[in-house]
Amino acid sequence: MIKYLGSKRTLLPLIGTLIEASGAKSALDLFSGTTRIAHEAKRQGKFVTSVDTASYSKVFGDTWIALDSNTVDQRELTDAIAHLNSVAPQAGYFTKTFCEDARYFQPFNGERIDAIRSEIAATYSGSWLEAPLLSSLLLAADRVDSTTGVQMAYLKQWTRRSFKALELLDPKLLAGGGVALQQDASEAVRQLAPVNLAYLDPPYNQHRYFGNYHVWESLVRWDKPETYGIANKRVDVKDPANRSDFNSRKTMPAALGRILKDVRAEVIVLSYNNESWISREELISQVEDRGSVEVLDVEFKRYIGSQIGIYNKSGARVGEPGAKANLEHLLLAGPKRTIAKMLKAAGKS
Ligand SMILES: C[S@@+](CC[C@H](N)C(=O)[O-])C[C@H]1O[C@@H](n2cnc3c(N)ncnc32)[C@H](O)[C@@H]1O
Repeated sequence: MIKYLGSKRTLLPLIGTLIEASGAKSALDLFSGTTRIAHEAKRQGKFVTSVDTASYSKVFGDTWIALDSNTVDQRELTDAIAHLNSVAPQAGYFTKTFCEDARYFQPFNGERIDAIRSEIAATYSGSWLEAPLLSSLLLAADRVDSTTGVQMAYLKQWTRRSFKALELLDPKLLAGGGVALQQDASEAVRQLAPVNLAYLDPPYNQHRYFGNYHVWESLVRWDKPETYGIANKRVDVKDPANRSDFNSRKTMPAALGRILKDVRAEVIVLSYNNESWISREELISQVEDRGSVEVLDVEFKRYIGSQIGIYNKSGARVGEPGAKANLEHLLLAGPKRTIAKMLKAAGKS
């Protein structure tokens, strides 16, 4: 999976245990991001739906959630990956924008990204291979980037990993069924069929994912937009239509409250943390009519960028690092017996 702000990588074992103990057969991962939680639920054999507004999240969802490894020809995928790894480098938009005008990747890797992305568009667009090949390219590019894990800046010195040659690997499809949606979560919950369990992991501050991961957006869309500023963000990052209600202190509490009311799930698992704009009491009051409500507190390491501070283009420190650890909370709501089972499995009863 890619490096991702708010990714639940370290919380995955606990969330996986809770999901498994719930006995759910169907699960919804709203705000799915890397699709890490949806992936775990599908691995457990559940029918999963992933929802996120980001284009790269839709590609990950199409790869790991919607595709069923039992119904596709794995050899076709292996052959296509081998073919893409052998495509000759060709500098283009990506190299110029993200490796020369900005320094997210070394130009020798940028030229390969350009050539491979163009070949995916020319040869695999519209086929079942398109999503897993794009996922494979995104993951390969992430392994050789020169950032701290967010694309609002790149590092002054090339990272050690950026010297490595880009290599596409098998994205390892999962068996089973699922659906991947690129949609606003507030809309999706009003349209989706009921599920046994819904996991919600909304953004909790002003940093917009559309701007923080603009390189992945542009690589997936391949629309080669105009860019602005030192970070070379897509110009439509400034467009109010690309704002999320979840990135504003004013709109976030009501938007989340509406989703908690609308989501048709027997059990809700919600991630939030001590920086959230909505209090524990408010959250509990939104879900208390669903049966039992419990909150688990977990210490959670922050993403690396916020630990090492913020630097400008010439390497001068312009921001102080945030706290090293956040307190993450998992709110569980649902039928009393199910919540009791989940707590017991997590060793919290
Ligand atoms: C905290 S991250 C989720 C991380 C994810 N659980 C993981 O482990 O990778 C929040 C996600 O919400 C998405 N998002 C923001 N606003 C949204 C909205 N209105 N509807 C759906 N997704 C949204 C962002 O694109 C981002 O991927």
